[in-house]
Amino acid sequence: MLVLSLLALGPGVGFLSQNLLRPPPTPGPTARLDTAYMPQAAMDIVISTYAEALPTLSSLIHTLRTHPSTPPSARVYIYTKSPTSNLTALRLSTNATVTRLPNIGREGETYLTHILTHWDDLARHVLFLQASVHNPREAWPRLARYFTSQTGMLSLGPTGTTCPCGHCGDRWGWTDSGVIPATWAAVYGNTTTCGTVGLTYKGQFIASAKRIRGVGRGVYEALRMGLVDMGGEMHGPRYVRGREDRADAPYFGFAVERVWGLVLQCAGGEAGMRCPSLLAGWRRGGESGDCGCFDG
Ligand SMILES: *[C@@H]1O[C@H](CO)[C@@H](O)[C@H](O)[C@H]1NC(C)=O
Ligand SMILES: *[C@@H]1O[C@H](CO)[C@@H](O)[C@H](O)[C@H]1NC(C)=O
Ligand SMILES: *[C@@H]1O[C@H](CO)[C@@H](O)[C@H](O)[C@H]1NC(C)=O
Repeated sequence: MLVLSLLALGPGVGFLSQNLLRPPPTPGPTARLDTAYMPQAAMDIVISTYAEALPTLSSLIHTLRTHPSTPPSARVYIYTKSPTSNLTALRLSTNATVTRLPNIGREGETYLTHILTHWDDLARHVLFLQASVHNPREAWPRLARYFTSQTGMLSLGPTGTTCPCGHCGDRWGWTDSGVIPATWAAVYGNTTTCGTVGLTYKGQFIASAKRIRGVGRGVYEALRMGLVDMGGEMHGPRYVRGREDRADAPYFGFAVERVWGLVLQCAGGEAGMRCPSLLAGWRRGGESGDCGCFDG
C-alpha cells in the first residue's frame, strides 16, 4: 500500500519540493463549457442518503440554509435509497424535493441520475453531498472561502491525491483498471495526452452547470450504465477481478467517486494541488484560485 502511494506520487522528492516552492500552477487542458446554457436558478443542492435519521438531515439542511455560500433561493433535492424511509416525513422536516431511488450504485448513481434527469434544468451551480458529510468542520469553511460565482468545480473532500494516467491507484487500496484513461479520452478526446490526474473523494463537490454540460450527456450515461448494468463489463470478471461487487456497492463505484474531478475537467495540470488540506483550511498567502477550477 505504502509502495503504491509513493509510486502514485511519481518522483516523490520533486513533487514535494515543487509544492513547497509554490511555482505558478500549470494549467490543465482547457475546459470545454456549455456557454450557451442559461440556468434559471442560482443553486441546486443534491443530497444522497440511505437511512440517515431525520434529525441528521434536518440539521444538514439547516447548516446549508444558513451557510453564507447558499442563496436563499437554493433548491434542495434529497434522494433516498432506503426502501422504507418515510418520504412524507422527510418532506415535512426538510421542505426538499424528495425522491426514492432503487438501492443501486451508491451516491455516484444518485448524482448521475440527478444530472441526467435535470439536464435542461440544472442551476448555475449544483452542490453534491452525502447526508453524512465527511469532515464538515473543514468542508463548510472551504466552501465559504473558495466558492465564488466563477467556480467551475470545487471539491469539498480530501484533495491533493494524483496519479499517473495509465497506472492510477491510491493509498486506500484502489487500483484503476482502465477507467481513468477511458474517461480522459471521453472528456478531452484524443487531442491531449492523459498525464497526471487528480482524484476526488467522498462524493462532495460543487460544479457549474456550464461545466457539467460541457462534456455532453454521453459521459454521464456511460458512467451510470457502468454502475447499474449488472451484466455489463464493469461487473464482469475482467474488471472486478474477484473484489467485492454488489448492485448496492459496486466496485466501479470507487472509480466513479474518484473520477468526478476528471469528468468536470478539473483534474489535469495542478488543479487543486495548491489547495490546503481540509484540516489546514487556509494557507498563508493563499487565494481563492488555489482550490478547484474557475469557468472564466
Ligand atoms: C410518515 O410520516 C407522516 C408524517 O410524519 C406520518 O403522518 C405517517 O404516519 C408516516 N407513515 C408511516 C408509514 O410511518
Ligand atoms: C417549510 O416551508 C413552510 C412554508 O414555507 C414553512 O412554514 C416551514 O417552516 C418550513 N419547514 C422547514 C423545516 O423548513
Ligand atoms: C483521434 O480520433 C479521431 C476520431 O476518432 C481519429 O480520426 C483520429 O485519427 C484520432 N487521432 C489520433 C492522434 O489518435
